[in-house]
Amino acid sequence: MIRVLNVCGARPNFMKIAPLARAYQAHGGFRSLIVHTGQHYDDNMSDLFFRQLGIPEPDLNLEVGSSSHAVQTGEIMTRFEPVLAEHRPDWVVVVGDVNSTIACALVAVKLGIRVAHVEAGLRSFDRTMPEEINRLLTDAISDLLLVSEPSGLENLKREGVADGKVHFVGNVMIDTLLANRERAERSDILERCGLEAGHFNVVTLHRPSNVDNAETFSRIADALDAIQQDLPTVFPIHPRTRARLAGLGLADRLEELRQLQLIEPVGYLDFLKLMANAAVVLTDSGGIQEETTILGVWCLTVRENTERPITLTAGTNTLVGSDPQKMIAAYRRCRAAPPDQPPVPEKWDGEAAGRVAAILASEAASS
Ligand code: UD1
Ligand code: UDP
Repeated sequence: MIRVLNVCGARPNFMKIAPLARAYQAHGGFRSLIVHTGQHYDDNMSDLFFRQLGIPEPDLNLEVGSSSHAVQTGEIMTRFEPVLAEHRPDWVVVVGDVNSTIACALVAVKLGIRVAHVEAGLRSFDRTMPEEINRLLTDAISDLLLVSEPSGLENLKREGVADGKVHFVGNVMIDTLLANRERAERSDILERCGLEAGHFNVVTLHRPSNVDNAETFSRIADALDAIQQDLPTVFPIHPRTRARLAGLGLADRLEELRQLQLIEPVGYLDFLKLMANAAVVLTDSGGIQEETTILGVWCLTVRENTERPITLTAGTNTLVGSDPQKMIAAYRRCRAAPPDQPPVPEKWDGEAAGRVAAILASEAASS
């Protein structure tokens, strides 16, 4: 049996470990543990995804909660070390680019336990972004780099990573989307929010560069004002953003916009239903850029860069930054015509997690 310890901690991790857990089981040769760091802890940022996506209950929750980067990362490391010393798995599998990813990878390599990084090689080339630091460091110390799109292969090659460590497996997040698309269509979120399919927009924002700065957030609010005058717009508010709205004094400004609906974060199935039926999605999320590409729905990314360039070249995504004029102009272009159905990026086919399991098994057999 190959013993795999899977790490998760924040919302976008759960969609990535769901198909991995299923793939280990389908393969048959694995004993798999799930460790939740507790980076995210509200029911609608964590447990709800385990229930909806049928992810096995975590074997352990480190319950680190929220704090500064250094405290959170350090606390995850301190609490993870004895867990690894006890279980000594063959592999630690980390996904994505959050603090839980780098913290657990670093503990594992120091204990001589092999690390596989799922979603390796992505680069925004923006080192002011905390996730870019997490990506660079995690890739530098991982033994296996499992890549979701061709840019990841190019980035790792340019950084001089040995070919043998790198495998192009495709996108595990899209495994989850394809497996749940039909179920999501049965969600009644449109009725609950009073929305009509095709005639509303969806907004999500949570990047510190957008929501932690009053001036930037207020410029984005100007754009949201114009956009909600065109179509009803639903905005499930990330807890970081909720806290900043109050702190920066912008809550009243958004609440008075008649067609902007501010709601709590929603579960995966409701959110998938919202995205699939939206006219335009405005976001600064990493994962949502990829999901809208597969759904063939316009995505305007409220950032100056993306680590997921395939969503620009072969998808429905456009970078619009946070300048309201640029955002509104891009929005109008989207509203003028629906996107062409983009080609599906290579290996975004629902089988990525199966490839990960097969590679872990073959590496274990050859070591
Ligand atoms: C984290 C990730 C980010 C990812 C995002 C996904 C890092 C550095 N950042 O950002 O890459 O895109 O998750 O959602 O790892 N909070 C709650 N309840 C929760 C979780 C958070 O209230 O369940 C609030 C707390 O006030 C906390 C704040 O949100 O201080 C930020 O949480 P944190 O996990 O530090 O960063 P995110 O902004 O969520
Ligand atoms: N998502 C969700 N409910 C929401 C907002 C997002 O289920 O209210 C899902 C979304 O479909 C995607 C993931 O959360 O699968 C993206 O997570 P997030 O934007 O928090 O993180 P990022 O991808 O930016 O790291």
